[in-house]
Amino acid sequence: MDGLTIISHPLVQHKLTLLRDKNSSIQLFRSVVREIATLLCYEVTRELPTELIDVETPIAHTRSPYITGKKLVIAPILRAGLQMAEGMLDLVPSARLAHVGLYRDPLSLEAVEYYFKTPEDCHERLVIVVDPMLATGHTAIAAVDRLKEAGVCEMRFVCLLAARPGAEALRAAHPDVPIWTAAMDDELNDHGYIIPGLGDAGDRTYGTR
Ligand code: URA
Repeated sequence: MDGLTIISHPLVQHKLTLLRDKNSSIQLFRSVVREIATLLCYEVTRELPTELIDVETPIAHTRSPYITGKKLVIAPILRAGLQMAEGMLDLVPSARLAHVGLYRDPLSLEAVEYYFKTPEDCHERLVIVVDPMLATGHTAIAAVDRLKEAGVCEMRFVCLLAARPGAEALRAAHPDVPIWTAAMDDELNDHGYIIPGLGDAGDRTYGTR
């Protein structure tokens, strides 16, 4: 799919299998979500521009690459995106955070906003929106809509698992927002869960069911 990158690295795929396994403990699930998010962060930032700057090593003067361009904001969609944000912060500790509080209405499957806060200068930053599951796409589309309303100009969307219908919906609604994911499953069930998926990412992270 145009604008969608699947990270096929064996470590990412192995860790995703651990997440899919219903017998994985909460502790394992949490730590693996964080680890995969770190690996996905590495990929989504692969093309960040750098420039050579002057550095004095203990031995000599040199010119060495330094990241330039827009500073990063990580924007977890609450609540399941929070654990992914932690994994990304492990790699980019200076990033700012935007919190997008959306939940899926269980009947309509539409996204309902309950919290929204971004850094004031978010229009000058590259925003990486994170949510473990891109299922129907309603929540992702609503989050990106809201961030655009707040002035964000450049966004990337990162998830652990995308469903084809959700990925297609997000690409159609926001063709300027590329997607990175560890895998894509083809189907959703009647409740909007990804098949085979990994279950409810929020419940499995926080032990709420
Ligand atoms: N949200 C989840 O946590 N899991 C799904 O399969 C779909 C949406």
